[in-house]
Amino acid sequence: MPKKDFIIVAIDGGAAAGKSSTSRALSKHFNLMHVDTGSFYRATTVKLLEAKVPAEAGPALNNWLSSLKLGTHIDGTSASIVVNDWIPDSSIRSEKVNANVSHYAAIPELRKFLLDYQRNQARIAREKGFAGLVMEGRDIGSVIFPDADLRLYLYADPAKRAARRAAEGLTDSIEKRDAMDENRKTAPLSVPEGATLVDSSELTLEEVVEHVSQLVSEVQAQ
Ligand code: C5P
Repeated sequence: MPKKDFIIVAIDGGAAAGKSSTSRALSKHFNLMHVDTGSFYRATTVKLLEAKVPAEAGPALNNWLSSLKLGTHIDGTSASIVVNDWIPDSSIRSEKVNANVSHYAAIPELRKFLLDYQRNQARIAREKGFAGLVMEGRDIGSVIFPDADLRLYLYADPAKRAARRAAEGLTDSIEKRDAMDENRKTAPLSVPEGATLVDSSELTLEEVVEHVSQLVSEVQAQ
């Protein structure tokens, strides 16, 4: 029996490292609310591109951000962002968004705007009776939930990751996005201190999920 009634699992890693598939599997297995923070940056990118706000807008971005009303829509164990009544669809995974999202995600004002919203997802997960939260992104274990019960960093070598995206029929500039995410000043992609590194290069998704599920069970039992 789990001793802890609520846990937070933070999963970080580069593009196409297997974070979403792993998080989804964990969320179903342990009844954790799944939150994909990459979709937050993607959804705001769609809106920024629509409004033709350049990534160089800097602090002026705050005016535009104040016009956004954020909500949360829960479907099964998955929580999605709602932006001005819009529930993001597959358009957030387009080539255009892939090419632009890391430029916007590097803007401190945008990251600050999404910070409390992301932390607030833990409260929502508790209120909705989930056994915890599994949140994936780039800075979850380092900035959003540095005190998470379990912090994982998923790694897979770039060639394997490119092959995964191609198999999904998607065009994605994985290495370019990783380089921008790793080199930005605010909340760069990094292995958080004390995080558990999981190298999935030579593992199947089932093997990764089995390994990580064991870690979650151990944390629940502590
Ligand atoms: O996870 P996904 O690949 O969908 O994320 C899209 C982009 O959103 C990343 O390349 C990164 O620039 C940004 N992102 C971020 N911080 C997060 C999650 C995503 O900067 N926590």
